[in-house]
Amino acid sequence: MSVHKENKEFKKITTHALLAMKQRGEKISMLTAYDFSMATILDDAGIDVLLVGDSASHVMAGHETTLPITLDQMIYHAASVIRAVKRSLVVVDLPFGSYQGNSKEALNSAIRIMKEAGAHSIKLEGGEEVVDSVKRIISSGVPVMGHLGLTPQSIYKFGTYTVRAKEDEEAEQLVKNAHLLQEAGCFAIVLEKIPAALGKRVADELKIPVIGIGAGGGVDGQVLVMHDMLGINKEFNPRFLRRYLNMYEQILEATKQYISDVKSRDFPNESEQY
Ligand code: KIV
Repeated sequence: MSVHKENKEFKKITTHALLAMKQRGEKISMLTAYDFSMATILDDAGIDVLLVGDSASHVMAGHETTLPITLDQMIYHAASVIRAVKRSLVVVDLPFGSYQGNSKEALNSAIRIMKEAGAHSIKLEGGEEVVDSVKRIISSGVPVMGHLGLTPQSIYKFGTYTVRAKEDEEAEQLVKNAHLLQEAGCFAIVLEKIPAALGKRVADELKIPVIGIGAGGGVDGQVLVMHDMLGINKEFNPRFLRRYLNMYEQILEATKQYISDVKSRDFPNESEQY
């Protein structure tokens, strides 16, 4: 695996830096993070964007969907990540129920995330139905990232986690929504689990960066859930996922060894005590 050097060029990643990367054809790297220790490592590695995703509801809290996580819980995770970060741009998801009511509610939730966690920007799911909220949040000075395609907060409407926008009608609606979000002022858009050709079309048509998860290689950047990419989860195996470690097995084996060392009185040895 070759490691790119160019991703250290910016001292601090801003929304403008992401736009510059798109303009010069440099792909944007993005991963999720939810806690101080992991965010420290990912930031030190040179990741461009850290997303405090509401996927925390799955991987940190063990819920089946992203719906139960609360604004207070997202703020707790975001503040932990922010304390770790020196370079990456931190984007924080507005959780389900914190913005769908109206644009004032959306603005208040975004402000809480910025004020209480010290976040750099927020992300929310949806197209034309959230455009008023996007505009109102941006007019207060908060950068907004959009999210189209598979939007997990609407899982009970979709019914399944399968690929979205395979049919023309849904694909055209997605393209229209992507343009609306760009016009509303979003600095970037995430596209989740859609055909690669559609991902490329949206990235080609939009001026702002388009970051994909399961949206193919034609978009401007890639995002993965950190637990999936590091192999901390073993049950989740979608086609788009590349695992870079098998941490489930490594942690399992290390823990078994520790248990065995404690039981056998091997740990602690003479040099491990006072
Ligand atoms: O919450 C999350 O992790 C996300 C990514 C899947 C993009 O929104």
